[in-house]
Amino acid sequence: MSDFPSPTKPLRVLAISGSLRRSSTNTAALEALALLAPENVKVLLYRNLAKLPPFNPDDDLEDRPKPEPVETLRALVNASDALVIAAPEYAHGLPGALKNALDWLVASETFCRQAHRAYQHVAPRFPRAGGLARDPVHDGRAPHA
Ligand SMILES: Cc1cc2nc3c(=O)[nH]c(=O)nc-3n(C[C@H](O)[C@H](O)[C@H](O)COP(=O)(O)O)c2cc1C
Repeated sequence: MSDFPSPTKPLRVLAISGSLRRSSTNTAALEALALLAPENVKVLLYRNLAKLPPFNPDDDLEDRPKPEPVETLRALVNASDALVIAAPEYAHGLPGALKNALDWLVASETFCRQAHRAYQHVAPRFPRAGGLARDPVHDGRAPHA
């Protein structure tokens, strides 16, 4: 894992929007990030949040195959140098679909080793939501403004 992109090896960024809304501002922000990223930063927008099954530790046993969308998401995380997550705040917490993805990911070693995580909340009408900029994974709970 590298801290900075080099001219020879682009930084691979996996972008996850926590909103399933068709006209999501968070997804739009990540699409803009992908478009505006410099040449040596490759941003891949993950679009299958809604396809992940509800997290169940019984389906996450070491010696058993995982549900296909989970394997795919973990493979994408493994292949990335950095994650960028942009999410709305719902009822003072993370959107359920994003929390579900995080539940699947925290059980995977690579995600916990990821050095770079960024949280961005796009909610112009709800300034109080800035509290989401904290780390919901390491806090172990949804942050409050
Ligand atoms: C059911 C619901 C609950 C919400 N709860 C909060 C909240 O607790 N705090 C907040 O700041 N915004 C809240 N919002 C506003 C969204 O976070 C905000 O509209 C956000 O920009 C939507 O992101 P999107 O455009 O990516 O879908 C809520 C919106 C909905 C629909």
